[in-house]
Amino acid sequence: MCPSPRPRLNLIGQDESLERMMSILARAMDGSGGAILISGESGSGKTRLAEEFESLASRSGCLCANAQCEPGQPPYAPLAQALMGLRRVKPALSTDASLEVLRKVLTSSEGDGLAARGDRALFAARDILEAVCREACVLLRLDDLHLCDASTIQGMHFLAREALGRKALLVVTYSDDELYDRESRPHPLIEAVRVMRREGLCHTVELQPLTLTALGEAMRDMLEADLEGRTLSELHRESGGNPQVAVELVREALRTGGMAVRQGRMALAHEGPMAISHPLRAWMSRKLGRLPGMQREMLDCAALCDEPFDADLLSSALGWDRLETMELLDAAMRCHRLYVEQAEGYRFRWPVLRRVASSELGHERTMDLARGIDRAKGGRAGGQGRG
Ligand SMILES: Nc1ncnc2c1ncn2[C@@H]1O[C@H](COP(=O)(O)OP(=O)(O)O)[C@@H](O)[C@H]1O
Ligand SMILES: [Mg+2]
Repeated sequence: MCPSPRPRLNLIGQDESLERMMSILARAMDGSGGAILISGESGSGKTRLAEEFESLASRSGCLCANAQCEPGQPPYAPLAQALMGLRRVKPALSTDASLEVLRKVLTSSEGDGLAARGDRALFAARDILEAVCREACVLLRLDDLHLCDASTIQGMHFLAREALGRKALLVVTYSDDELYDRESRPHPLIEAVRVMRREGLCHTVELQPLTLTALGEAMRDMLEADLEGRTLSELHRESGGNPQVAVELVREALRTGGMAVRQGRMALAHEGPMAISHPLRAWMSRKLGRLPGMQREMLDCAALCDEPFDADLLSSALGWDRLETMELLDAAMRCHRLYVEQAEGYRFRWPVLRRVASSELGHERTMDLARGIDRAKGGRAGGQGRG
């Protein structure tokens, strides 16, 4: 029988980041606080790393509180929630007048002017921070700040400034592949991070995909069995080293009998691509749906090309200017993390995304794009023949 997956994996491959964060914490505990910004693509392990850090900080005697950011929350709500969470670790705070102000931020009606409310909230937040961190080091964790409005992001920036020179540390996570979705205007967090870096207010931790070895270790932990070599390589390729994608693929394989024990190790039960679960498909669809129009168009075309593909092939298949296509490819890698560049050309960062994209193309669109790709290849072959 297949082992069932354990609900939570040990944190693998993040020793270096944690060590660095612990030394930042040590400085904060000595009165030189600030902020740590943890960024990376969705599913890369930002929340896990931040939670692990928070629990280490708590064991070191810090007062810790956190808030999860959600789209559509009132301005400053996550900051207010996190600070109000300090009541749990410090009940005496409950009578503090500043907390009353923050409670109003969470409940006040729209009629109350936002600017005045914002100023009151920020000063109240500062007063609480000041009062609490006189006694002990405070750690406030805000998860998924990319989901917040501009005012909350400014509030975070304000608190990071206030944490400097105090026993206080802000730990913020955000998905950097979700900052570039909007076609109309840039996400306010991009500018906030740029300014915070310039002002020396923050330390940054950028999460990278898990290596093959780290993914193998994480999977051994999850399955309580080793993955057979080829299965591990396939999982690493399919997931691009993203822990969440890998977990989803393995769960689905276990659920559908796509994995079985072979000579004491877990192995794919059959040839062919791994099954994509509904949640994983929905996640990939959302990612595709958020892409700016031309990025989506280019990705649809790339999904039908053999890998590796290059800018020439895409630009002539789509009838686009070559330079413009190269700029879009550059943004696709830097901002959206869609592809990786290798010596021979580009490949999808997550093969799963490629499969979902091509399955979402209608028949007409597929034929249309395929004709363009054939024409581009024909032109290239002709050119080579003549050369
Ligand atoms: N380094 C890691 N080692 C083991 N499991 C991990 C690691 N990073 C992430 N995970 C697991 O992958 C999943 C996604 O991680 P999460 O922290 O929620 O990602 P994010 O916050 O970046 O979207 C979770 O189930 C988490 O426990
Ligand atoms: Mg998260």
